[in-house]
Amino acid sequence: MTYQYILTDLTDGILTITINRERQLNALNTTLLQEIKAVLTKHQTDASVKGVILTGSGAKAFAAGADIKEFSDFKSAEGSKMAADGHAIMRQLETYPKPTIAAVNGFALGGGCELAMACHLRVASENAKFGQPEVNLGIIPGYGGTQRLVQLIGKAKALELLMTGNMIKAEEAQQLGLVNYVVTQEELLDKCRGIIQKIAKKAPIAIAKVIECVDAYYTDGVDGLAFEVEAFGACFDTEDVKEGTTAFIEKRKPQFQGK
Ligand code: COA
Repeated sequence: MTYQYILTDLTDGILTITINRERQLNALNTTLLQEIKAVLTKHQTDASVKGVILTGSGAKAFAAGADIKEFSDFKSAEGSKMAADGHAIMRQLETYPKPTIAAVNGFALGGGCELAMACHLRVASENAKFGQPEVNLGIIPGYGGTQRLVQLIGKAKALELLMTGNMIKAEEAQQLGLVNYVVTQEELLDKCRGIIQKIAKKAPIAIAKVIECVDAYYTDGVDGLAFEVEAFGACFDTEDVKEGTTAFIEKRKPQFQGK
């Protein structure tokens, strides 16, 4: 399948999705977000895909936000629909059963920052800049930024960034816990691939359950510890637990099948 605004590459079990609107600083329009959703859905249960890297084309931007030209004359109903549709895609990334990593290669502003925050991990290049500048436009973040920024960096700093619209550099983003690693532009994709390759050696069902359990912590009305009890128990019905424990006893590396 060909897409208009994204490039996809599946190599060695790693699905790389590149937002491909370089001249518009990879601004996220409706079609582009739907394309990300479509490719994620296509590979969601594909056992050969071990993880997803999301990045932007060029050396300047991951994504400089939602496409301002697309929503400038919206009324409230259209704004709410835009946010709801965006939320569905962010949740798909956040709950994806394989690791998702944002390779942030430049500006991650507004919806771009929100897209990165919906991924499980974030690796930034040294030139990356993060921010939620929506208040400059008379709006607020609508793809989950008011919630996920608080989760990742805490209330005080999140409120500061959300109210001032300030941009922060990669180094500060790492100090705040917004990004996992900062590397050079050249090292960015290799760093992300390395993380996925490491996770790919673990038991896939256990990885999916880790993602579900951590998500449960943030889900209203779900008792995360009780959720963990069930998930832990369910691991014992997999073939992978036999392989993992047997390999340990036999002093060899496990070969997990994801069953
Ligand atoms: N939506 C639509 N178009 C955008 C965009 C966005 N969020 N961000 C950048 N672009 C477009 C610009 O309109 C420009 O297009 P043009 O050449 O057709 O005029 C092109 O990308 C390059 O942007 P430009 O502003 O010229 O680059 P810059 O280096 O001077 O500034 C930024 C970079 C990121 C500081 C600036 O583009 C910006 O502030 N973008 C908007 C950020 C934002 O508010 N995001 C939240 C949106 S909800």
